[in-house]
Amino acid sequence: MQPVVLAPSVLAADLGRLAEEVATVVEAGAEWLHVDVMDGHFVPNLSFGAGVVAAVRAATRAYVDVHLMIDAPERWVDVYADAGADGITVHAEATPHVHRALHAVRARGLRAGLALNPLTPLAALDAALDEIDLALIMAVDPGFGGQAYLSASEGRLRTARSWIDARHPGCRLQVDGGIDAGNAARAVAAGADVLVAGTAVFGAPGGPAAGTARLRQALASSTRPM
Ligand code: DX5
Ligand code: ZN
Repeated sequence: MQPVVLAPSVLAADLGRLAEEVATVVEAGAEWLHVDVMDGHFVPNLSFGAGVVAAVRAATRAYVDVHLMIDAPERWVDVYADAGADGITVHAEATPHVHRALHAVRARGLRAGLALNPLTPLAALDAALDEIDLALIMAVDPGFGGQAYLSASEGRLRTARSWIDARHPGCRLQVDGGIDAGNAARAVAAGADVLVAGTAVFGAPGGPAAGTARLRQALASSTRPM
């Protein structure tokens, strides 16, 4: 398993101070910035689009991780690649053309991610494993920040980790939704090596630097599998 990466989700940031918020969490030790794009169709919420991805890109040299919660993501890959994404994740439920979407991401030289909602069978990941660089196990139904973490995700992470270790050890395993200092170590013990956190970082008492540090501390004080 690779070293654990923290990916604060700017969905929960103060967008009026976006560049400053991004700089703060990177300074505090976050390696990736997670950008949640929502279209109001695939998920019942609208967030932001390529303009905000470009603003995050301009604010940092850190890895920009774009999570597309949109229908037909294959139509939008070039737009988000042009905006400065380092990786683009698409949902298995969002298109009948998952392969086409993943191929389009890799064709731009970016890390291709496949996301699965909590009740989507892991068979989709099994089938796509050779075509991806990141697997995202959603620990909530996507669409909103601040939802409660589904601990049943840990069994799914364990299965995904065993497949990745056996067949594609370079693939990252990400978990997203409701991650906080109370469950982060359990998600990592189950196999996650990229933790997305919105509320626990940007909504933390003491602010985003304290939130980032608290998550790091929760991981450091836990026992991790190799
Ligand atoms: C949920 C998004 C998440 C969200 C996480 O649909 O994909 O990335 O920003 O927010 P928290 O950490 O508050 O659950
Ligand atoms: Zn997300």
